[in-house]
Amino acid sequence: MSFDLVLFGGTGDLTWRKLMPALFQAFRHGKLPAGGRILAVARDERTDTEYRDYIREKFAGVDEAKQPNADEFARFAELLHYRRMDLSQPEHYQGLKQWVDARGADTVVLFLATSPNLFPAICGQLGAAGLNGPHVRVVLEKPLGHDLASAQEINRIVAGAFREEQALRIDHYLGKPAVQNLMALRFGNALFEPLWRRESIANIQITLAESIGVGTRGDFYDQTGALRDMIQNHALQLLTMIAMEPPPANEADAIRDEKLKVLKSLKPFTRESVARDVVRGQYKAGTVGGQAVVGYLDEAKVPAHSHCETFVALRTEVQNWRWAGVPFYLRTGKRLAGREAHIVVNFRPVPHPIFPGTTRANRLIIKLQPEDGLELHLLAAKGGGPTSSGHEVLSPVSLDLDFDKAFASERVGGYERLLLDAIAGRLNLFVRSDEQVQAWRWVEPILDAWAEDSGGPRPYTAGSWGPAAASALIARDGCAWAEEQ
Ligand code: BG6
Repeated sequence: MSFDLVLFGGTGDLTWRKLMPALFQAFRHGKLPAGGRILAVARDERTDTEYRDYIREKFAGVDEAKQPNADEFARFAELLHYRRMDLSQPEHYQGLKQWVDARGADTVVLFLATSPNLFPAICGQLGAAGLNGPHVRVVLEKPLGHDLASAQEINRIVAGAFREEQALRIDHYLGKPAVQNLMALRFGNALFEPLWRRESIANIQITLAESIGVGTRGDFYDQTGALRDMIQNHALQLLTMIAMEPPPANEADAIRDEKLKVLKSLKPFTRESVARDVVRGQYKAGTVGGQAVVGYLDEAKVPAHSHCETFVALRTEVQNWRWAGVPFYLRTGKRLAGREAHIVVNFRPVPHPIFPGTTRANRLIIKLQPEDGLELHLLAAKGGGPTSSGHEVLSPVSLDLDFDKAFASERVGGYERLLLDAIAGRLNLFVRSDEQVQAWRWVEPILDAWAEDSGGPRPYTAGSWGPAAASALIARDGCAWAEEQ
C-alpha cells in the first residue's frame, strides 16, 4: 500500500520531538508500509537535503536507543521530502495537491502538527483545494478547542471538508501500550469482568503525574492549564476505557459508542460541587529529583500574577447501574514528586474478616509510566505460623507483571502506533468528535466556576504530590492516594 504522509508544521516541536522519532522507529521495525513518502511542509525555504540534515541533527537529542546510525538514517532520509508552504495562500494548497496527485498514492494522511488555531483555516483550504478525497485522512493533534463552543466550531469547519471517518483526533495516551493492555485485561480475559462493578470496587484513581515543569511553553501553558491540557482529554479517555461496557466488537464505532456513553454518564458539575470536589493548584519553588526548581510564576513567559492551574484533583461518579456511587478520582500535575501515570482500582474489603489486624483490601494497579505493567495486591500468609496469641497474620504481597519484559522485542510507542493506524485507516484509537465535545461539555462548568472565583489555585511545593487539599478531598471518603496508602 503506497502512502503520502504530509506533516504540516514540519519544522515544529511536535514533528521533531515525537513524530519523526516515531516514524523512524516504525521504519526500523519494518512496520512502515513500503512505498511511502513523508512530506514536511513549513514556512521557510529549504531543500529536501537541508531538511534531512535538520532532522538528522534533531535526532541527536532523542533517547540513545532510538537514534538511527548513519546507515539507518540514510535509508530513512530517502522517505523525507520538504515543501515550503504559506498556509494562508490557496495556490500553495493547489501546489501540494499537484505534488500528491502526481504520484496518486493509495492513502494520503495530512497530519496537522501546527498551532491548533490554524486548524479551521487549514481544513477549509484543504477542502477548497480538493485535498479531501475519500483516500485522504486528516489527523488533528490536541488541543482541539479551548472550551465547548470553540471545539464545536472547529468540528463544524472540519466537517465541512472531511467526513467523520476521515478526521482522526489524536489523544496520544490512547496509543500507549498500557491502554491496549487495559482493553485486553478487560475484554480479552474473563477473570475481572464479574468484579468490575460497584459491588466489588470501592473506588478508582487515575493519576497522571509529571516531574517536569512547563519548560519553554509558559505562554501556551498559561492559556491552557492542567484541566484543558490533561484532564479534558487524557484522563477522561482513560476513565472511559476503565468504565465502558464491553463493546460488541473490537471496532472503532463499537468502542467509541461505549466510551461516549460513559462521558454522558459522568456526574455533571455545579458551582457547589466544583468548590467541593475539584482542587486546583499551582507549583511554587521546590526541589525535584534533587534539583532546585523555580515556581510556576517565575517560569519564562508566564505572567506575574497568573491564576493558571498546574495541578488538578477531582472526584466524580459515573451515573449508571455498573458504577453508581463509586468515586472516580482524577489527578494530574506538573512538578510533582515523580513522573508516574497509573490507574488504581481499589476493591472492597472482605465482608467478614476472620484474620485480625489485616484490613487491607485488594488493589489492582495499571501502570502506564514509567513502566508499563500490572500489579495485583493480595494478602497472603507469610508462612511464619501464628503469633504468640494464636492469630494468623496476613501480609501484603503483589503479583507484578512487567509488559516491557514480557514482550521486550515487540513494544511499539504511542505515536508510532497512532501514525501506523492513521496510515492503515484503523480508527479504534482515535477520538470521535462527539466524544471530544462531550468531554468539553463536562469540563466547562469547572472552567466557568474558576473564572468567577478570584481565589485562584492553591500553592504546592514543587516535588510534592500537590496541595494538601487534594489529600483532604479523597480522605473525606475514607480513601487515600496510592502513595499515601
Ligand atoms: C501532552 C501535554 O498532551 O501530554 C503535555 O500537552 C504533557 O503538557 C504531555 O507533558 C504528557 O505526555 P506523556 O506521554 O509524556 O505522559
